[in-house]
Amino acid sequence: MKVVHTIEALRDQLRGQTRAAFVPTMGNLHAGHLALMKTARQHGDPVVASIFVNRLQFGPNEDFEKYPRTLLDDIEKLEKGRDVYVLFAPDERELYPEPQTFRVQPPDDLGGILEGEHRPGFFDGVCTVVLKLFSCVQPRVAVFGKKDYQQLMLIRSMCRQFQLPVEILAHETVRADDGLALSSRNVYLSAEHRSQATELYTTIGGVRDALLNGATDIGSLQTLASHFLKSRGWQVDYIAIRRQRDLLLPTSSEVASGERLVILAAAKLGQTRLIDNLEV
Ligand code: PAF
Repeated sequence: MKVVHTIEALRDQLRGQTRAAFVPTMGNLHAGHLALMKTARQHGDPVVASIFVNRLQFGPNEDFEKYPRTLLDDIEKLEKGRDVYVLFAPDERELYPEPQTFRVQPPDDLGGILEGEHRPGFFDGVCTVVLKLFSCVQPRVAVFGKKDYQQLMLIRSMCRQFQLPVEILAHETVRADDGLALSSRNVYLSAEHRSQATELYTTIGGVRDALLNGATDIGSLQTLASHFLKSRGWQVDYIAIRRQRDLLLPTSSEVASGERLVILAAAKLGQTRLIDNLEV
């Protein structure tokens, strides 16, 4: 695997390639990321991964400074996985040589709800860096995990509206044996919180079972789930049952007539904020 830190070196490596498959990450790679690389390998050649902790998508009180930066370990994991041909790991000066005053501003109806409401500016930062990375790598396909469900939808929609020639592939969330969605931020959890963290998954699993068994009162399902988590010590940002197609609230007749739904959740255990979702 070639490791490059500049856009120029990246372009040298990719000259003439028209079928590149790309996986952007912020590093601290885990089995979920490695699964994205495998999928990329099945859909394009060469596979390009990036590692860049993107300051633009962190709020002023978020964990930009302490976000785990583990480049050497990450390189080792990618070498072992043997799926990636080029790793692009730029520093901030390379990707933001001047203040990034042009930004992608996602629409409020998709970017201003759920994560966008709780993390103002987050999706501007994500879409802006993804657009820049796409412009550096010029992939034919790019793979994103469904754990960041809203992010995946926004990136799809950005590609559609800007007519970017990149096909976006979605990868199922990879989970630990107890169901916890793998995330680079799980390393922040204390041992006690780590064993409790699966409650987020089991709670939305309970909501999914209720919906599959015919429940249609989504307001009370959301409230019940949220109360349960709060009673266990979680600080809940949201438990939301939404339509898969646009993340808007379904009407009860849509729920009753089998509209495809997704349950999205964000909550904090101690200082660690976790997100998860399940499609119904
Ligand atoms: O999902 C992530 O890790 C990040 O949001 C991304 C897509 C790499 C952009 O920084």
